[in-house]
Amino acid sequence: MTRAPFARWMGQTNDVTRTFLGAGQIPGLVNLGGGLPDPSTWPVAELSELARRAVADTPEQSLAYPPIEGLPALRDAIAARFSAPGLSLTRENVLIVSGGMQGLDLIGKVLLDEGGVVAAQSPAYLGALDAWRPRGPVYRPMRLQDDPDLHAALQGAQFAYAVPNFSNPSGRLVPTAQRRALVEAAQATGAWLVEDDPYGTLYYDSAPLPRMLTLSGDPEGPVIYMGTLSKELAPGFRVGWVIAAREMIEALALAKQGSDMCTAGLSQVIAAEALTSGLVDRCLPATLDLYRARRDALLGAMERDLAHAFRWERPAGGMFVWARARDPRLDTDALLAEGLEHGVCISPSSAFDPEGRDRGAVRLNFTLNTPERLKEGVRRLALAVEALTRRAA
Ligand SMILES: Cc1ncc(COP(=O)(O)O)c(C=O)c1O
Repeated sequence: MTRAPFARWMGQTNDVTRTFLGAGQIPGLVNLGGGLPDPSTWPVAELSELARRAVADTPEQSLAYPPIEGLPALRDAIAARFSAPGLSLTRENVLIVSGGMQGLDLIGKVLLDEGGVVAAQSPAYLGALDAWRPRGPVYRPMRLQDDPDLHAALQGAQFAYAVPNFSNPSGRLVPTAQRRALVEAAQATGAWLVEDDPYGTLYYDSAPLPRMLTLSGDPEGPVIYMGTLSKELAPGFRVGWVIAAREMIEALALAKQGSDMCTAGLSQVIAAEALTSGLVDRCLPATLDLYRARRDALLGAMERDLAHAFRWERPAGGMFVWARARDPRLDTDALLAEGLEHGVCISPSSAFDPEGRDRGAVRLNFTLNTPERLKEGVRRLALAVEALTRRAA
């Protein structure tokens, strides 16, 4: 029997996300690979009560098929939360999605023709690359710290993609001037501008910079803003949102119809209540304190055990340290495999490069593990580097 072949893109992908999500099941392994929150930050008692009430009091919302666009109460809560002086959003500007990942998938379906051009911050979030890979886009890398000509970068692109707050994987913050320049370039060229913002509240050292959505001052403008409850509350709800011009929301809703039809009502009812009751905001200060201390613990451990082999920048927020090997011969794909042998999981840079060519850096997460486990993870990683280097010599 001859089997029909898999689609071409299957041969061009990787299973890094599957590896770090699965790593949690391996006993004793220190998982520095994912962008995973610490379960101790989840307000389990309050959420249990919200879940009980959602089923008992509003089964017609929690247990039914909600509208494709999302429950009105949650869309209203998001519109209110992201409105600002000079930016008045309504429910029609909001689509509820099943996690930010679905937002990325729908954007690819709605905006990308086969081989379309995407101007993307470099290095780029691996989930976005995964979502769009079936369309075979052509990527035009943008260096958002200092790119002098964003206008040229966006010209002819179907959209631009950026994670301005503590980018995944680089942990970098895009300065306000560059945010403004990107918005202006999108307005001038007519390209859509996707602002992916899961880490927008995770500032450890300063107050948040303005969103590009706010800077645009136009709900019907080019910015497609994406948020999620995953890092602020818990990823298990699989609740995210897209805020954009009404015509874009309608197009995305049509794409969602052919994807999962609707996001789970139970999750949406709980999310609406968690946002409007202030639960999400009340949890934030303790989470920031916990993650700030963990960032410092990871950096301290790296300084001690890895400074001879890597260099990095100190992230002012988010969940990641991006570290580049000093020796260009160190292959971080091989380090992922060697690290697993030593009981530590990392994410290699190849997954964040559309061509899969960059094999010289690693992304390390600091939010999931205690300072002691972070230290142990770094110690194991240093041993893995040593073993690889010794073998190569
Ligand atoms: C930049 C970025 N976008 C989107 C997502 C998707 O998050 P979720 O699907 O959990 O909302 C993530 C998750 O790590 C991310 O880092």
